[in-house]
Amino acid sequence: MKFLIHTYGCQMNVRESEAVASLLVARGHERADEESEAELVIVNSCTVRQKAEEKAVGKAGNLIADGKIVGMMGCAVVRLKEELFRRLPKLDFAVGARAFDLIPDFVGKIASGEISRSSPVSSRFALGADRVPCGMHAHLPPQSQSAFVTVMIGCDNRCSYCIVPDTRGHEYSRPADEIVAEVAALAESDVREVTLLGQSVLRYRGFPQLLRRIAEISGIERIRFTSAHPKGCTDELVAVYRDCPKVCRHLHLPVQSGSDRLLAEMGRRYTRAEYLAAVKKLRDFDPHFAITTDVIVGYPGESEEDFEATRSLMEEAGFDNAFIFKYSPRPGTRSARLEDDVPKVEKERRDQVLLADQELRGQRRNDALVGTVREVMVEGPSKRNKSRFSGRDSGNRIVVWEDDGGTEIGSFVKVRITEAHPQILLGELVCS
Ligand code: SAH
Ligand code: SF4
Ligand code: F3S
Repeated sequence: MKFLIHTYGCQMNVRESEAVASLLVARGHERADEESEAELVIVNSCTVRQKAEEKAVGKAGNLIADGKIVGMMGCAVVRLKEELFRRLPKLDFAVGARAFDLIPDFVGKIASGEISRSSPVSSRFALGADRVPCGMHAHLPPQSQSAFVTVMIGCDNRCSYCIVPDTRGHEYSRPADEIVAEVAALAESDVREVTLLGQSVLRYRGFPQLLRRIAEISGIERIRFTSAHPKGCTDELVAVYRDCPKVCRHLHLPVQSGSDRLLAEMGRRYTRAEYLAAVKKLRDFDPHFAITTDVIVGYPGESEEDFEATRSLMEEAGFDNAFIFKYSPRPGTRSARLEDDVPKVEKERRDQVLLADQELRGQRRNDALVGTVREVMVEGPSKRNKSRFSGRDSGNRIVVWEDDGGTEIGSFVKVRITEAHPQILLGELVCS
């Protein structure tokens, strides 16, 4: 069957869509380049905010109306369970976030006519709440220089607002040997950069040692990981940065709020001061160390004072980039029992204020890089201007330069920065 996968949500979902595609290809199905060519479309869903869920369910509904065979996977499936089939009675199948490796079986049964839209929901649905999907291994050598590698699935943090622990289940850490073997296999197929994935990856026991082992694999030039919790930002981790230049100088360190009162209510288990101490540790090591974050505005009871605390924390931390989210109550979470009392317009205002601040801050952070030489991994021709090439530095910053086209994708070049923008650096090739 010709298939296509639409992915919403985080990198974990991107990774799992890749895994499903590989499993389907291994069973003789074919990837479609465009939706119009696909007979089967799978929607990999997110439910971290209400809007994300609506998008995925809406997309699946449209595809059904277009006459496609439609399956759903991911976090929204776990939250909605059988209810999903009441909303979309003609959905062909659905599997939960930890059951994606079952998709080829469902597709096989549809192809053979063993199940159809008129079959009972129980035969078209698998939740698989606490399964450990065996499909976590790399299947096909990806045709790219970068790959995601899952090191942990699930989350036991239970932040008050977050539905992820309900959708992804309890934490499971893959054995280190298995991870190292997967990365080594990726290196064999010319992957140069790996991003280790987990909801809270620093909770992996012996994470610094794991990084050191991966850094020893020849062929792997860059190691990234996400997401990080400030508690895991230890001296031991900084020592890894010092010893292993392959470990990239970028950390996505979600802060959520700058107000100690709200941090406690959210159950984040760190204070503003502890968070800022983690930031300082990284910037003392390297002032250009890139730190990005997630922030929630409009959490129940967020006062003007709480909001200003977030604002000032962001300034003190000097974030290189920030994702701002408007609070969205998720059924079953602790904070969903609180009144969602910050008016929509006020959430919008706070969002805009933080975005405007970040724009200036991003510019300032990037201005400091003008004149420096960045080592950049080449990603390909720039989307906007084909005579330019683009890639990323160790800090995950996008760098763009004029190129005669002689540069190989996946190789490393040195670029001297000549111009800075809040989200992008421009420069010129340095002949080495
Ligand atoms: N596991 C990651 C975050 C996954 S969710 C971590 O903890 O680091 C990505 C981001 O979505 C979170 O960092 C948070 O800022 C935001 N988010 C989570 N739940 C939310 C909610 N109910 N409303 C608004 N934003 C939310
Ligand atoms: Fe969405 Fe979170 Fe699930 Fe990722 S883990 S798909 S962001 S709900
Ligand atoms: Fe877990 Fe992150 Fe939520 S650590 S509980 S997913 S904000």
